[in-house]
Amino acid sequence: LRIAVLFGGRSAEHDVSVLSATNILRALEPAKYDAVPIFVTREGQWLLSSFEGGTLAKPSSGTGVCLVPGGQGRMMAIPTHGAAHELPDIDILFPALHGLHGEDGSVQGLAEVARVPLAGCGILGSAAALDKDIAKRLLYEAGLPAARSVTIHHGGAPAFAELQSALGLPLFIKPARQGSSVGVSKISAEKDYKAALTEGFRHDRKLLAEEFIRGREIECSVLEDTEGGLFVSRPGEIVPAQSHGFYSYDAKYIDEHGAALKVPAELPQEIEGSIRAMAAKAFRAVGCDGMARVDFFVTPDMRVLINELNTIPGFTDISMYSKAMAASGVSYPEIIDRLVAHGLA
Ligand code: DAL
Ligand code: MG
Repeated sequence: LRIAVLFGGRSAEHDVSVLSATNILRALEPAKYDAVPIFVTREGQWLLSSFEGGTLAKPSSGTGVCLVPGGQGRMMAIPTHGAAHELPDIDILFPALHGLHGEDGSVQGLAEVARVPLAGCGILGSAAALDKDIAKRLLYEAGLPAARSVTIHHGGAPAFAELQSALGLPLFIKPARQGSSVGVSKISAEKDYKAALTEGFRHDRKLLAEEFIRGREIECSVLEDTEGGLFVSRPGEIVPAQSHGFYSYDAKYIDEHGAALKVPAELPQEIEGSIRAMAAKAFRAVGCDGMARVDFFVTPDMRVLINELNTIPGFTDISMYSKAMAASGVSYPEIIDRLVAHGLA
């Protein structure tokens, strides 16, 4: 089975994607899969890559690749020298991209147009989950609790006092469509508001001001089977180091002591049960299929709130998706097999 793994990408999570894809390629059993890694440059060019000795190449030039619309799994190679030629058919596309232009439905749409089977979540669920403003509205509509927020459009930021009275302090200012806490600020005073808006708007034209929830960060992996049944993992917990204040980009990927994962999370049985049920409900409410990681806050008085859904969750060494699945009896290669089976069904 030829599986094209897309990685890198135009989003601020480019480097995270390289780590995720490296792990995915390591887990692809050579007896089953003929992997074709495709590096998406920061500019958005698709280049044929290679995976040798556990290392993923990030070419800066070479053979460009495109999907052929209506081509039923066909790709074209566009070498910098010489004539373009068709590459062998691929059976499935596995985007290991995070954030905009990869996790947001755009690549999923490209696969649909090119008639290439896709591993993971489709167009609508991807787009809805990546937009925290839209996702929240779908969650509320399904009766699911989420942190209170105010949507801020470019050019229309409300007065700080308005946010303070709606959300309390401290509060978060975050891009609506961004992952890994990129562009997120936690602010406690009006003097920091302007800088937080500037930082947020560097990443998106739409921001969210969100109430700060003092709670534990709990995450569940959801994987759909070929019959449409949902497997929901046991929840895991992110325990950030005190020094980071919140689970920031640095705490996630830069500082190796930035956070620890505790899988399964220590929770009363009935709370764990309700979290798992909420994960499945949220997955459906936001229109997901295939896969997602559903992130929660659990407050000291055991109130459970949904933070967000990630349709291409991190697959790095420190990532929760595979760890929570492993704690529930599903190995890393088994996740890939199930995602591929789902995509081909
Ligand atoms: N956005 C990162 C990759 C995650 O949610 O794991
Ligand atoms: Mg995220």
